[in-house]
Amino acid sequence: MIIAVDGPAAAGKGTIARALARHFGFHFLDTGSLYRMVGLAAIRAGGEPITAEAAIAAAKSLDPSRFTDSELRNEKVGDAASIAAVIPEVRAALLDLQRDFARKPPGAVLDGRDIGTVVCPDADAKLFITARAEVRARRRQMELGSADYEAVLADIRARDERDSKRATAPLVAAADAVVLDTSEMDIAAAVEAAIAAVVAVELKGRI
Ligand code: DC
Repeated sequence: MIIAVDGPAAAGKGTIARALARHFGFHFLDTGSLYRMVGLAAIRAGGEPITAEAAIAAAKSLDPSRFTDSELRNEKVGDAASIAAVIPEVRAALLDLQRDFARKPPGAVLDGRDIGTVVCPDADAKLFITARAEVRARRRQMELGSADYEAVLADIRARDERDSKRATAPLVAAADAVVLDTSEMDIAAAVEAAIAAVVAVELKGRI
């Protein structure tokens, strides 16, 4: 069974996808971390702003064991990831890795931007997790600690624009995705709604 969880930055999809994996006993892959690894490797190889050559080379020789989570979580790496993610060769280089992971028994939850549309269009359940940009900026600001709210909001908007407008695999809800707006929900309520949505899709598939 494959569960695809897509959505914009800081909508809560990582937390929700991890909770789904735990609830159903499935494997979990944060595909954004793959793009972040590419962004960071490209920065290390050629500095900033990253070049397409450095990003493509990094994607083609990606070794996930070389990176630690703490290195990948800052805004600079997130921006480099979003820039690298526009490049079709980078996306193509990461496709098999994601699809192989999705086939792991007994099931897998993948979160990202294009899981339900491109990576796993046949996923058994698809969720699109979203929230208003202002709410997402507030959450990201709290995550980052001292960051300036207006700067975080501007960054979220720039990221949304880049992720949604790119030609290859843009951020968009799959036609058959369940859309969950978490703007007015706390984490527990969002996780509960996501589990209920997956169970409902599963039951529907069996009737
Ligand atoms: O989810 P995140 O913030 O860690 O993702 C970082 C960037 O990676 C995001 O701005 C766009 C890109 N990305 C993507 O294009 N496709 C995915 N499946 C996951 C992430």
